[in-house]
Amino acid sequence: MNLEKTMKYKWQYPNHKNQLIDCVDLFCGAGGLTHGLIRSGINVTVGIDIDTSCKFPYESNNKNRFIEKNVKDLTSKEVSSFFSNSKIRLLAGCAPCQPFSTYSRNRNKDEKWGLVADFGKLVKEISPELVTMENVPQITQHEIFHILLDYLDGYNIWWDIVDCTQYGIPQTRKRLVLLASKMGKIKLCSADELGLNKIVTVRQAISLLPAIKAGEFYKNDPLHSSSSLSQLNTSRIRASKPGGTWRDWDVSLRAKCHRKESGRFYSGVYARMEWDKPSPTITTQFHGFGNGRFGHPSQDRAISLREGAILQTFPKDYKFINKDEKPVFNKLARLIGNAVPVQLAEVIGRSFVIHLNDKIT
Ligand SMILES: C[S@@+](CC[C@H](N)C(=O)[O-])C[C@H]1O[C@@H](n2cnc3c(N)ncnc32)[C@H](O)[C@@H]1O
Repeated sequence: MNLEKTMKYKWQYPNHKNQLIDCVDLFCGAGGLTHGLIRSGINVTVGIDIDTSCKFPYESNNKNRFIEKNVKDLTSKEVSSFFSNSKIRLLAGCAPCQPFSTYSRNRNKDEKWGLVADFGKLVKEISPELVTMENVPQITQHEIFHILLDYLDGYNIWWDIVDCTQYGIPQTRKRLVLLASKMGKIKLCSADELGLNKIVTVRQAISLLPAIKAGEFYKNDPLHSSSSLSQLNTSRIRASKPGGTWRDWDVSLRAKCHRKESGRFYSGVYARMEWDKPSPTITTQFHGFGNGRFGHPSQDRAISLREGAILQTFPKDYKFINKDEKPVFNKLARLIGNAVPVQLAEVIGRSFVIHLNDKIT
């Protein structure tokens, strides 16, 4: 079965006319941001990340180079060398979503937030015409955000908390998006302007993928595989209704901490998604039924890695592993959950392209 035919809707591809913008993508991950920027007509020259497991997906799906490096060790001279002289320079930096990501657990807070400051310092020294970053909304409540804004002195800045569902992304993810320009006023295009103003549901995104069982994978696409479930979790998912909670289960199935009726426990774990709504935020833990509302709406399993990637609006054939490789769930879920949704990245890219067209024509 061709997975291409399993998608019910198609993304809209913009015109790739003149690639006026060169982009260097710091903290590039598996390439969510890069892929969307390329779709919008931006020439991404290089992606840089400390995590070696990003190399395969990054380079297999995008024609540009991946460099494994700590952003802390990058000099402005080195980063500048990745831009061509004749192009408008965009520096992108989606530093880890600290202190909430799994990456942060063993590091001290200053070091974690320090990566955002390192990005700010590189912006200050390189002085690119355009800048973008994406992060968790909570960053705006931290001093580091204001430090970053200080580094952007002299730029026209737009930032807001963006609700992904408003841009046709089948996921209730909310993220801070920042755009900055030395070339005049800038803003993120609205969904209306880009013709993306339709809510897309889990059903529209993943319902036509082949059915698989927990612990199984689909032979033509090893990424369409779902983690195995214990006997207890199998009984629990069978007792779960789409959109329901563990409170619907028989008490015997509940975790010990959920047996008391104090009502203080988070009910959005061990739960199924609903077909006719966008999914919850795809986190780095989405492969586990117990980690959130990550149960498939009708099959007795957590969503597959491929389903998570599609809900993150990666193309359905985006390569994360070699064809014969066995998927490593926690590694791949981290790459997928950490990504900027490709569709959001495309909106960011198109906003820059339109911004420049306005300046040039
Ligand atoms: C939020 S993710 C970026 C996702 C990426 N922009 C995408 O759209 O797929 C943050 C990335 O920062 C990387 N990272 C963490 N610390 C780093 C460092 N010191 N230098 C370079 N990359 C780092 C992580 O490996 C992770 O891939």
